Amino acid sequence: MEPKLNTQLPGKTPVVPETFPGIFWCPDLVSTRDLGSQGVEAVLHLAELMKSRPSVFARALAGKQMVMFFEKPSLRTRLTFEAGMASLGGTTMFVDQSKSRLDARETLSDIAHNLERWVDVIVLRTFAQETITGMAQHASIPVINALSDLEHPCQALADYFTLVERFGSLKDITLAYVGDGNNVAHSLLLTCACVGSSIRIATPKGYSCNVQIVADARKIARQTGARIEFLTDPHAAAAGVDAVYTDAWASMGQEHEAAERAEIFQSYQVNRNLMAEAAPHAVFMHCLPAHRGEEVTDEVMDSEQSVIFEQAENRMHVQKAILYLLLGGAVRLPARSAHA
Ligand code: CP
Ligand code: NVA
Repeated sequence: MEPKLNTQLPGKTPVVPETFPGIFWCPDLVSTRDLGSQGVEAVLHLAELMKSRPSVFARALAGKQMVMFFEKPSLRTRLTFEAGMASLGGTTMFVDQSKSRLDARETLSDIAHNLERWVDVIVLRTFAQETITGMAQHASIPVINALSDLEHPCQALADYFTLVERFGSLKDITLAYVGDGNNVAHSLLLTCACVGSSIRIATPKGYSCNVQIVADARKIARQTGARIEFLTDPHAAAAGVDAVYTDAWASMGQEHEAAERAEIFQSYQVNRNLMAEAAPHAVFMHCLPAHRGEEVTDEVMDSEQSVIFEQAENRMHVQKAILYLLLGGAVRLPARSAHA
């Protein structure tokens, strides 16, 4: 979906422009593509404000209610959404959807038309991206992707926010993602494209990124000047970069492939040798949960270069910004500053 600037969709009300004139608004965050370049910049800007002046926003979403349906386990995403919503004055209901798919008992449309009469925002963690897309199509309230098999937009936004904090500008840095061409890789790729940064993605043959995501990232990159490279050699990918990122070799739902993947991905482990290829100031990144001894060694996880807990902390600040943008927070914000 093309990003929308201050436009009205049927049933979804653009409330932000009234309280923060001119800032980006979009109805849902199903994909990073919904935000586009302007939306990603707005999230990063707001996250910085949320993190540096939390008390200003303490009642920004007072009276708003969020419901979360998760088909897969979560530590960080669930708790950072819940803590973030509470710190904006809103409330949360969590539904453990791990025993059956969300649409197993009734249609997404019927669920959507119930939820929109009770709450203000729906946060979904699902297997199928189509479940989130479908909910967004039917619901007149915002829908946020909290991870699907295809994308993990909130994660990558927090990761690029972490890189802004560390390096200031995103234009001149390169991130190397080493491992499976999965949901996290897709969202890093799209976010990188939106901010006009540089990314190298190294995956084994047969585990590369989704072709539609790649095509869309390249299209965005043509507008922003982002540089995107795909490789199979993890050492070539890591050479001289500012950040080395990896994720699980077998994602949630792929546990039955774990043994086979462990063999295929062995040379993609992020260890001291691979980190030595990167720039001396390079950071190590991981969305977590990590499988220590598999995709990354303890030595790298616990090294001075590791920013894994900064990433985890920033999930909350970024998701507060997303909730604020989608729900129209009632705070007049200070002037914006450029990030990229
Ligand atoms: N990174 C992340 O999404 O963590 P959880 O699976 O614990 O939510
Ligand atoms: N790729 C991982 C990310 C976990 C946050 C998974 O989908 O399981």
